[in-house]
Amino acid sequence: MELDYDNIRKQSAIPKASSMIETFRAIGYSLETAIADIIDNSISAGAKNIRLNRFWRGGKSIITIGDDGCGMNNEELVQALCPGGQNPLDDRSATDLGRFGLGLKTASFSQCRKLSVISRKEGYSPVYWSWDLDYIAQSDKWELIQWIPDEFKHALDDKKSGTIVIWTDLDRVVPPETSETNQNAQEKFSHSLDRVKRHLEMTFHRFLENKSITIFWGEHPIEPWNPFCTDEPATQNRPEESIGLGSGAKMKGYILPHRNQFSSEAAYKRAEGINGWSAQQGFYVYRGNRLLLAGDWLGLFRKEEHYKLVRIQIDLPNTLDFDWQIDIKKSKAYPPSKCLEQLRSYANEVRSAGCEVYRHRGRILKQKAGVCFQPLWLEKKKDNKWSFVVNRDHDMIKHIKKMAEVKPEQAIETLLKFIEEAIPTETIYIDKAQNDAEQKQPYSDMDTNLVKSMLATMYENQLAQGMSDVQAKAYLKSIEPFNYYEDIIDEL
Ligand SMILES: Nc1ncnc2c1ncn2[C@@H]1O[C@H](COP(=O)(O)OP(=O)(O)OP(=O)(O)O)[C@@H](O)[C@H]1O
Ligand SMILES: [Mg+2]
Repeated sequence: MELDYDNIRKQSAIPKASSMIETFRAIGYSLETAIADIIDNSISAGAKNIRLNRFWRGGKSIITIGDDGCGMNNEELVQALCPGGQNPLDDRSATDLGRFGLGLKTASFSQCRKLSVISRKEGYSPVYWSWDLDYIAQSDKWELIQWIPDEFKHALDDKKSGTIVIWTDLDRVVPPETSETNQNAQEKFSHSLDRVKRHLEMTFHRFLENKSITIFWGEHPIEPWNPFCTDEPATQNRPEESIGLGSGAKMKGYILPHRNQFSSEAAYKRAEGINGWSAQQGFYVYRGNRLLLAGDWLGLFRKEEHYKLVRIQIDLPNTLDFDWQIDIKKSKAYPPSKCLEQLRSYANEVRSAGCEVYRHRGRILKQKAGVCFQPLWLEKKKDNKWSFVVNRDHDMIKHIKKMAEVKPEQAIETLLKFIEEAIPTETIYIDKAQNDAEQKQPYSDMDTNLVKSMLATMYENQLAQGMSDVQAKAYLKSIEPFNYYEDIIDEL
């Protein structure tokens, strides 16, 4: 229905600055997603060098993110600091990592009470402005103040162009009253920043790898972290597939090597990622080469230990932002429902290959060396029921048998120990979760003659030790596995 706005009464309802700006703080950034959002802007501004500096001063600590991008003149800086300065519906160039016209403000306010930006566009003098939440709380006005900490006033004097974002009063990172000598707090600060560093190594790894940008951590450039370990010779990759028709989205699966097949233990450790092997499995969603989501099954599957080697990259152009519901923080994406089946079936194929690598553990390596691998436990399938049996032909079992001729006690203890240690719990767990066949019921195909003769001997022993018939039978029924054979016991 078309409304006739000219003939309807109006009432202005302007947001209250002091409360609205506090709401911006609650979008849910972490320190690492907030800093990544600021770096997005530097990349969109064509920066080659981006530098993150942190100054520990207790409650007065400072974080700065500087770049040598195109910078802004006064008018552009004011526009940049204005929330919603750009319409999310506008088309953006393919290399622009922004969308909402909010990130600079929301990411900053999520961490600090004062956001200052100094910027210089080529051919202009440096300009600076700040949002100060304390001033807005007092004035209740959407007003910037022309202030930055003194030490940064001349930071761009000798630069052609660039921008520095300065966060002070970092109340969400360091409590305001923290003293500079508080070691605990200082450690916590540096620990949070270590996480940021690792997050940036991951989020921007493609830019770092192709050297289109360098991110300096203080003075030192950070190293890219590639989730797919593409330079490990044993990494397997799956053919790339387009998602949907002509959308420009595509995916490609990788199966990382088993620990034994990594080129070194250090490489295996590094591949683990920030959150650990199991947590890092899943889809890795990139938007314009920037990683949005690192290890998430997008609601299609649960994370499980035996899929920990599976990582699948998805590449999205920014024209799909609305279809995939990209959020302001650039840390979420929801696939459109029409793609779900395709994602599920592609992932299923990669997941089962990944599970194979996980299950085979050391075997492949050993077979490659030309030696036949001898597992201690064998997987057995009979009448469509699976179970595990100890491998009687295992050379160690043969050796223990020989040992039993001379040192029976020690041989039995050794045998029990090895069997205990080697119980294939992981594989049993996977079989339970995945195998269409059923697990064989315990003792369902046990040789009853063996049980009978064992029971008879033990029953005689108990009687010889003075137990009555009733006592001896009750006693035998309390011992596993004889509790499954009450009938045989009653017949004794
Ligand atoms: N480092 C920078 N160098 C040059 N211009 C910048 C820089 N940071 C921000 N800007 C300008 O400020 C604008 C607003 O940035 P902001 O991060 O708030 O929104 P956005 O990047 O447009 O979208 P999004 O909310 O998705 O991040 C940008 O569009 C850009 O024009
Ligand atoms: Mg932005």
